[in-house]
Amino acid sequence: MDAPVILRSAATPTAPALLLRPWCARDVAALVEVYRDPVLRRWAISRMDNEDEGRRWVRAQERSWAAGDRFAFAVLETAPDASPRLVGNVVLKEVASGKPSAEVGYWTAARARGRGIASRALSTLTAWSFEAFRAEGLECLELLHQVDNSASCRVAEKNGYRFDATLPAAPPTYPLDGHLHIRRAAA
Ligand SMILES: CC(C)(COP(=O)(O)OP(=O)(O)OC[C@H]1O[C@@H](n2cnc3c(N)ncnc32)[C@H](O)[C@@H]1OP(=O)(O)O)[C@@H](O)C(=O)NCCC(=O)NCCS
Repeated sequence: MDAPVILRSAATPTAPALLLRPWCARDVAALVEVYRDPVLRRWAISRMDNEDEGRRWVRAQERSWAAGDRFAFAVLETAPDASPRLVGNVVLKEVASGKPSAEVGYWTAARARGRGIASRALSTLTAWSFEAFRAEGLECLELLHQVDNSASCRVAEKNGYRFDATLPAAPPTYPLDGHLHIRRAAA
């Protein structure tokens, strides 16, 4: 990607607009703060216990953007009379030219959950992913979550990621079975 990718999800009658842009160094303090949430820590693979770890993670995202195989976006709520506020993360990963599938992932800050943010951000990411990588052969997006992550399952279904298969547990990283959901590009 030559220029930074900026994506938007319009305001709804009940929620401010969302801005999706690549993570950058000025996000580190807010990122570490959001990662204090035990629910997020339960599902997340990355650790973010302090600003050094936060900086390392942001630098890794920047390297992946440059390499063109993983595209993580900070999701910011942008109300007209307030500073943009970090509310989540969405990521397109496992991307390679000529490969028909890639994977999506997401989380929302604890204080921002239950307001449709993950669903709107995933919808925006999905549309961008198919548009940006169709010419490289992207045909379907996969979404994986542990069987007991009902909120994530709901976000997947609301976005047209249909349940495809139950995947066996792979401890210690994945102690329980998982669900694989798939969304195909529109014909
Ligand atoms: C999963 C997660 C991203 C959802 O974020 P969110 O911004 O609250 O999502 P949304 O508001 O768009 O939608 C959540 C949906 O799940 C539903 N939901 C929430 N908790 C639920 C539960 N325990 N059981 C069933 N449904 C649940 C909500 O009612 C909502 O559905 P609705 O719109 O039909 O009412 C968020 O909970 C999170 O960050 N969890 C920790 C990290 C994580 O699990 N990431 C995904 C890993 S695969």
